[in-house]
Amino acid sequence: TVYPDSGSASRSVAKRIADLIRRKQSKGETTVLGLATGATPVKVYAELIRLHKEEGLSFADVVTFNLDEYYPMQPDAAQSYVHFMKEQLFNHIDIDMNNVHIPTGTLAQEEIPAFCLAYEQKISSFGGLDLQILGIGRTGHIGFNEPGSAPNSGTRLVTLDDLTRRDAAHDFGGKEKVPTKAITMGIGTIFKAREIILMAWNRKKAGIIKKAVEGEISSEVPATYLQLSDHVEFVLDEEAASEL
Ligand code: GLP
Repeated sequence: TVYPDSGSASRSVAKRIADLIRRKQSKGETTVLGLATGATPVKVYAELIRLHKEEGLSFADVVTFNLDEYYPMQPDAAQSYVHFMKEQLFNHIDIDMNNVHIPTGTLAQEEIPAFCLAYEQKISSFGGLDLQILGIGRTGHIGFNEPGSAPNSGTRLVTLDDLTRRDAAHDFGGKEKVPTKAITMGIGTIFKAREIILMAWNRKKAGIIKKAVEGEISSEVPATYLQLSDHVEFVLDEEAASEL
């Protein structure tokens, strides 16, 4: 779906999330959301905050799982995704922080496999993700599933692509300060969500969106795996859609 601009697109995605939460609330059910970081979802979160403050949308019975976190990363560091999510969403809504899950950036390396397995099991224990929102990196990554990721991959420790680290350099004050690794949900984890929305804005995403939507399905561009799913929607602004 192509919108004239990222504002209208973001409001529409936020409305879908709000409708899902309200629909499940009316049945006494918990909503399980898969959340993303980066600049792309910021306006969606801003709209969800507005819906909470102005229209009484409650997140009291919402459970969230974030896609990824840098490794290593202290949760209170300015660049951590924990910090990002608190600033952009969680500090402004009525979510119970016990219901928030973000991969832990402070584990010892040997603790990571068990942590990743437990993350998958925790998602399953809540009945799986109702909706996963995604951005896309210029390498074609979703979450931090870089080129080479397998379609059935699970939550795991990955090595970040050089381009991804260059794109993050601004946040860290130089590429050399960007962690070389991250913990990310896998492609297989993302695919299990009952609904997936990938968002992209601006001309700088047009090239990778063309590859993701029209390119050959390949591990070289992990977002092309989304072509294999019948419950994925790409929500784009006109610039990001301009090469389609
Ligand atoms: C990071 C995140 C991704 C995100 C990507 C794009 O790599 N781990 O989940 O999609 O950045 O970021 P942006 O939305 O800022 O373009």
